[in-house]
Amino acid sequence: MTNSIPVSNEVLETIFDETGYNSNNLSIRETNRLATLISQKGNFDFVRMEMGIPNLPTPDIAKEAEKKAIDQGLQGIYPPFDGIPELKSAGSNFVKAFLNMNVEPKHVVPTCGSLQGGYISQALAGNMHKGKDTILYLDPTFPVTRYQAKFLGLRSEGIELYDNRGDRLLEAINEKISGGNVGGLLWSSPNNPSWSCLNEEELKGIAEICDENDILAIEDLAYLGMDFRKDYSKPNTKPYIPTISKFGKNWITLISASKAFSFPGPRCGLAIISPELNEQEFEQLGNFCGRKRFGHAFSLGGLYVTTSGTSHTAQFALAKMLEKATSGEYNFIKVTSAYGKRAKKVRSIFLKYGFKQVYEKDMDETVGDGFYLTMSYPGYDGTNLMLELMKYGISTITLKSTGSNRHEGLRVCISFVDEKDMPILEERLSKFKENNK
Ligand SMILES: Cc1ncc(COP(=O)(O)O)c(C=O)c1O
Repeated sequence: MTNSIPVSNEVLETIFDETGYNSNNLSIRETNRLATLISQKGNFDFVRMEMGIPNLPTPDIAKEAEKKAIDQGLQGIYPPFDGIPELKSAGSNFVKAFLNMNVEPKHVVPTCGSLQGGYISQALAGNMHKGKDTILYLDPTFPVTRYQAKFLGLRSEGIELYDNRGDRLLEAINEKISGGNVGGLLWSSPNNPSWSCLNEEELKGIAEICDENDILAIEDLAYLGMDFRKDYSKPNTKPYIPTISKFGKNWITLISASKAFSFPGPRCGLAIISPELNEQEFEQLGNFCGRKRFGHAFSLGGLYVTTSGTSHTAQFALAKMLEKATSGEYNFIKVTSAYGKRAKKVRSIFLKYGFKQVYEKDMDETVGDGFYLTMSYPGYDGTNLMLELMKYGISTITLKSTGSNRHEGLRVCISFVDEKDMPILEERLSKFKENNK
């Protein structure tokens, strides 16, 4: 290991002075930049674990389908703003095969990543009913989702999911919504980053609460099927990926292609709108975006006025991947299970050198190995631990920045840690432990 590890406090202080960053409040991008600067000054490479970005090759199926669409000249033509028929149809077959969801192609709307689906969903949720302008999150939460609510002028509240599971979760939701101001309830499952997965009982209870209280349930399946403790890899076969759609009427399910299909660049995901909700009319939505019917408010009111649809040619690529997954020719779960294997190795290295897993249970079970790990070290709070590990060439973000109440911990993303990084990580954590006995 290079002698410059750990870098000195002076190096860190100089960088903070030069950049003007606040060490107590670093965004993910700032952390990323900080790691680059330390790496340049210390002349060593970082083990990068701060960004939640996918790191598997995009399947050839996608490349070939998109190339074909380009050769047909479709880059020169606006897409239908609510999606090409091929993708709408492939999407409805795909969600039937893997989530046992019953929707028609018209309920499947391609968006610029699931983030745009979340943006429009939150905008509608906070403006559907008078006085219901708050979005409730099951925390920790992907920070960008929360920034969206802020940008939209909506209020936000949170419930710490880890401390509130099963009946306690439903009680906590009921308590939070009792003021009548909550218009939307948003969660990701598996949760980024605790990797807790909502079970069917919880989803059923949430659906009932949302339907009874005019709340839009926004289900973010950014890490679709990545609970590798179960085998979700076989189309049209149990077990199906758990979803709110089995139970309620007031829901939108967001499906991201970024992780499940290693397809983040083209910004092409899917929003699936509940068939009942799609047809329902809301006076307030008429005032908000000129369309009373929910489905029209989503596509004409939200999607059309923001980006007028999503990349025309990329939609063909996603359609083809979904078709091949549905027919069993492309096993997307088997491909992404590489992340689970990396997480298992990284977890054992952290634990070996005295770290503790912050979120280690998923109700009564051990939490699965997926895309993120959550780690703490005795005697450190999250911010200090994050900065200290930076000195050892290891970049992470604090759990606090994800809305978690576990301020002692860090979010560790494993996607960029490959086999050659494992011994480097081990060596650095071993040195960290030696210096922190
Ligand atoms: C929970 C969650 N939702 C949404 C996204 C973004 O998905 P997309 O790339 O489809 O916009 C991410 C990406 O990290 C995420 O973690």
